[in-house]
Amino acid sequence: MSKPALDLRDVEVVYERRGRERVRAVAGASLAVERGQIVGLVGESGCGKSSLARAAVGLVRPTAGTVVFEGREVTPLTRRARARELARLQMVFQNPYSSLNPRRKIGSQLADALDALDLAPRRGRRARVAELLELVGLLPSAAARYPHQFSGGQRQRIAVARALAADPSVLVLDEPLASLDASAQAQVANLLVDLSRRLSLSLLLISHDLAIVRHVADVVSVMYLGVMVETGPTQPLWSLPLHPYTEALIGAVPHPDGRGFLPEALPGEVPDPARPPAACRFHPRCPYAFDRCKQEDPLLRRVAPGRTAACWLQTGSGPPARPAEQAQRLPLLHTEE
Ligand SMILES: Nc1ncnc2c1ncn2[C@@H]1O[C@H](COP(=O)(O)OP(=O)(O)O)[C@@H](O)[C@H]1O
Ligand SMILES: [Mg+2]
Repeated sequence: MSKPALDLRDVEVVYERRGRERVRAVAGASLAVERGQIVGLVGESGCGKSSLARAAVGLVRPTAGTVVFEGREVTPLTRRARARELARLQMVFQNPYSSLNPRRKIGSQLADALDALDLAPRRGRRARVAELLELVGLLPSAAARYPHQFSGGQRQRIAVARALAADPSVLVLDEPLASLDASAQAQVANLLVDLSRRLSLSLLLISHDLAIVRHVADVVSVMYLGVMVETGPTQPLWSLPLHPYTEALIGAVPHPDGRGFLPEALPGEVPDPARPPAACRFHPRCPYAFDRCKQEDPLLRRVAPGRTAACWLQTGSGPPARPAEQAQRLPLLHTEE
């Protein structure tokens, strides 16, 4: 099998809070995005998704572990060096309003993105801008307009077009649908699938909503309090979750098929990652927790073909999916750029 387009191995991100407390927002998480694949990363707010995403694109330096993109290790660079060296690894944020310049026309902003990389000769620029707009389902006339003249969904399309200007092989999208209404969510989700297929583009799609990810992703990684608790192909994971947390995430959304019993949504909130529960970090909220869960940390294990789970209810005989996954390391200090 060929190497993944983006490979995150045992990544840890530690922040320093108020100069004293160490917050292990990502506590040793692994994830691979194969070429042309759409990987969904889901979990409640505060579980470390954005921190992992920022490490994935080199906006923060992992305190442990590595990120490998197209065979090279990703490390934080200056803004200028980043624009060139990591052009093929692009990120799209939740709020297209704040990521677009309100005072510049869309065409100029897309042209800037091309200029920054010398990707289109001056004469070819207008055509390339029109092509980028067409790719995201907008008319070439959009180039002459300003961000406020578009709906939220259209602005997110423009943000995607700007990321595509760099001719990326991987897009990391952090909650790209969260600020949109339901119909715009569906349209942008369909656009992302279409782009991934047409351009052989790999996507790491981050969302707190498994119901959305389910329709888009080929495989899903479920994150809880800084670690992966379940990974697997989307449809089997949705129809038979192996980790109680995944089951709860499915139960927390209206079941669109209206079939089967759904568990109640989870009690309580994600604990503070500065003070994670001992042993299995999910046990205080788990409806199935038993003695062992309070005593020993379950490793992420291969439980079925293509599927892993970190749960003592799963008696998978396979070896730990990543032996070093939850090894304790002394965290280095990390400061954001
Ligand atoms: N710059 C920071 N300094 C200190 N703590 C942070 C910082 N950024 C995020 N955190 C903490 O790290 C944890 C994970 O945050 P985040 O990665 O944003 O999660 P998510 O995207 O899943 O909501 C949270 O507890 C959050 O408060
Ligand atoms: Mg986030």
